[in-house]
Amino acid sequence: MKIPPFTLERQYSEIGHDIENAVLNVLQKGQYIGGYEIAKFEDSFASLIGVTDVISCNSGTDALVLALRAFDIGHGDEVITPSFSFFATAEAISLVGANPVFVDINPDTFLLNINQIESRINSRTKAIIPVHLFGNAVDMTKLKLIAKKHNLKIIEDCAQATGSMWGSNNVGSIGDIGCFSFFPTKNLGCAGDGGAVTTSDQSLAQKIRELAVHGSPKRYSHNHIGYNTRLDVIQAAILNVKIKSIKKWIKARQKIADNYIQLIDKNALLRLPQTNSELSCNTWNQFVIKVQNENFSNTKNYLELFETDVIKNKTSRNFLKSELLKIGINTIIYYPIPIHAQLAYKDKFFDKDLLLNTEKVCTEVLSLPMFPEITFEEQLHISENLNLILKKYDQIAQISA
Ligand SMILES: Cc1ncc(COP(=O)(O)O)c(C=O)c1O
Repeated sequence: MKIPPFTLERQYSEIGHDIENAVLNVLQKGQYIGGYEIAKFEDSFASLIGVTDVISCNSGTDALVLALRAFDIGHGDEVITPSFSFFATAEAISLVGANPVFVDINPDTFLLNINQIESRINSRTKAIIPVHLFGNAVDMTKLKLIAKKHNLKIIEDCAQATGSMWGSNNVGSIGDIGCFSFFPTKNLGCAGDGGAVTTSDQSLAQKIRELAVHGSPKRYSHNHIGYNTRLDVIQAAILNVKIKSIKKWIKARQKIADNYIQLIDKNALLRLPQTNSELSCNTWNQFVIKVQNENFSNTKNYLELFETDVIKNKTSRNFLKSELLKIGINTIIYYPIPIHAQLAYKDKFFDKDLLLNTEKVCTEVLSLPMFPEITFEEQLHISENLNLILKKYDQIAQISA
């Protein structure tokens, strides 16, 4: 049985006909920039998230850049964020000329360690970007208290968390601004790139709308140096079809996560993903297990560590990944290298000692196949094999000890 880590083929066989009709309709009507489909999607997404304004744009990365620019964050400013995220979170900060300041994560939830934030704040700090990673919501109650105390803005990175909630509020409606991605693998994905900014501050919304279209409040007037970052109308039409199923797909993801939790055996090597708190309604964009790396040491240069331990397959995580692959079960590592250790940041100094959990977790994480249409039989096959492989690995480790 071959199982992909993610596929859209099954979803397409269910709703493909509606998508084709929606795309054909756009092509026939000839409204290729802005117009009905965009306005309809922005309205539906605003109701889903619980905000007054949605500004659609070309990607989640652009959404983050627009949010930072909306607060005039730029050269010399600092923005606090985790290093365990997709690169775009920090990249957006650097793109506007500011500097990312990384805090470590809680190794059980993979979310930023809120207790580290205050020690990283100084007069240059302007904002915090929490990442609701893998669909697991950050503690927004604590975070808002810190932001208020230090007069900082909160830009929520909700790229992986459409539909996730903290308490009774959707992520993306709790901080000052929310940033979403509609990359195909996200909870709500289009057929290419797409993104959106959410806010309930109307003057911010107006500025973001201008920034997204050449800094222009009306044709041929330009208030800012902006961007050309619009959601494509064909993508909006596809999202208008797909948004109707979002609640059903989230329920399916939650059921799949529950199944994995039931089916995977306890093993000293293994840690199952933990939802942040009872207040966090997790939408499980990914189901990420950890396979312990007892030999981890951060004394080495990280890239050297990556070369020796990860690429050369010395971790129990990599053993599990390759054994699963041998029997057709494909998994993914989100993320193998922390952002602060990327070559792109080789000229910046980051205090690695403050980022120990981030570095260790990158050698331990493994995302199991997760998409709303995966069957129970497939999950059973994955879990039974995973249980067997880890048991075998445990025995090998005991013999060689
Ligand atoms: C946490 C996070 N932030 C930002 C982004 C960027 O979104 P996009 O790929 O739409 O630019 C992603 C996309 O993978 C992401 O996972």
